Amino acid sequence: MDWVEDAVEVIDQTMLPGALRVLRLTTVADVVAAIDRLAVRGAPALGVVGGFGVALAHRESAGDSAQLQALLGDLENARPTAVNLSLMVRRVAEFAPQGFGAVLEAALEVRDQEIAASRKMATRGADFAAQLVDGRPMTVMTICNTGALAAVEGGTALAVAEELHRRGLLEEVVALETRPLLQGARLTTWELARMGAPHRLIVDSAAASVLARGFVDVVLTGADRIAANADTANKIGTYGLALAAADAGVPFVVVAPESTIDLGTTSGASIPIEDRGAREVVSYPREGTAPPETKAINPAFDVTRADLITAIVTERRVVNLSEGATLTGEPEATPLR
Ligand code: MRU
Repeated sequence: MDWVEDAVEVIDQTMLPGALRVLRLTTVADVVAAIDRLAVRGAPALGVVGGFGVALAHRESAGDSAQLQALLGDLENARPTAVNLSLMVRRVAEFAPQGFGAVLEAALEVRDQEIAASRKMATRGADFAAQLVDGRPMTVMTICNTGALAAVEGGTALAVAEELHRRGLLEEVVALETRPLLQGARLTTWELARMGAPHRLIVDSAAASVLARGFVDVVLTGADRIAANADTANKIGTYGLALAAADAGVPFVVVAPESTIDLGTTSGASIPIEDRGAREVVSYPREGTAPPETKAINPAFDVTRADLITAIVTERRVVNLSEGATLTGEPEATPLR
C-alpha cells in the first residue's frame, strides 16, 4: 500500500491468491468500500489506509469543515474492532488546520512508523520465540493473515515467522484456514510461499487436536485491539486457539504494534466486535454453501483473556504476562511530531 500520484494504491486482497490486482482509491468512499469488503484489511494496514484516507477527505472537502468531519466519521466507522483505524484517522486529522501538505506528511509518517514497527517486532518476536524453545528450530501455528498484506511491509506474527525462517529456526508454519473469509488459506499461504517458508494448511477445527498432539512449539497471532488489562481482540477463532494452546501447554504469543494497544479500553468486555452478517457464512466461498435463507452468527473477532496469553510482543517491549508483567505504566505510541 502506498500514496501514489494523488491516490492510495492497495493490493485487492479479495482477489488473492488467484490474481494480484492493484486498486487505486481516489475518494473517501473508495477507501470505505475497500475496507468494508476487506480489499484492504489487517489492523496496521487499516491504520495506514485510514491516515491516507484523511488526506483524501481533506482534498474532497475543500475547506468545508462540516464535510470534512462527516468524511472523517465515515473513515473511522468503516470497521469498529481494529483500534488502529480510528486512532490513525484522529492522529492525522489533527494536522487538517495546517493544510493538505501537513496532512499528507502525517499520513506518510504513520506509514513509515508502521514499517519500522514491523521490522522491530520481527526481530524482538524471533528473539523471544527462540528463547521459549532454547534456540532450536520450531513449528509455529498461526491464524488469519498477519503478514505484509495486513501491514505495509513485514507484518506482525507472520513477520516473526519470516525472521525465524531467515535465521534457519523455522521448522514450519501451520496456518489455520480462517473461516469464513479464508484469510489463512488465501493470503497467509500465498505470503509464506513467496517467502519460501515451509508451511502446511489446516482446517480451523483441526487446530486443537494438532496442538494436543504436540506438533506445535509456539502459537503466534496478531491483534486488532489490546485492552489495558491485556485482553486481546483478534480474528474469530483466536480465543479457541488460546484455550487449546493452554490445554496443550504451548506458549501463546501476541505480536502487535503499540498502535494496537488501547489503554482507554479497560478490558475485553468493552471491545466492539464486528458482526459481518450471514452472507459470508452461508454463501462463501460460493452461493449454496448453505441454503440461502439460513440464518447465521458471524462475529469477525473474538476476545482472548489476558490469562491465556503468554506474552505480548510490540516494537518496543516484550510484556511477559505469564511472569506477571502488565501493559500499563509504559509509554504510549510515539507521537507523530
Ligand atoms: O477481518 P480481518 O482480516 O481484518 O482480521 C485481521 C486479523 O484479525 C489480524 O489478525 C489482525 O488485524 C492483525 S494483522 C497484523
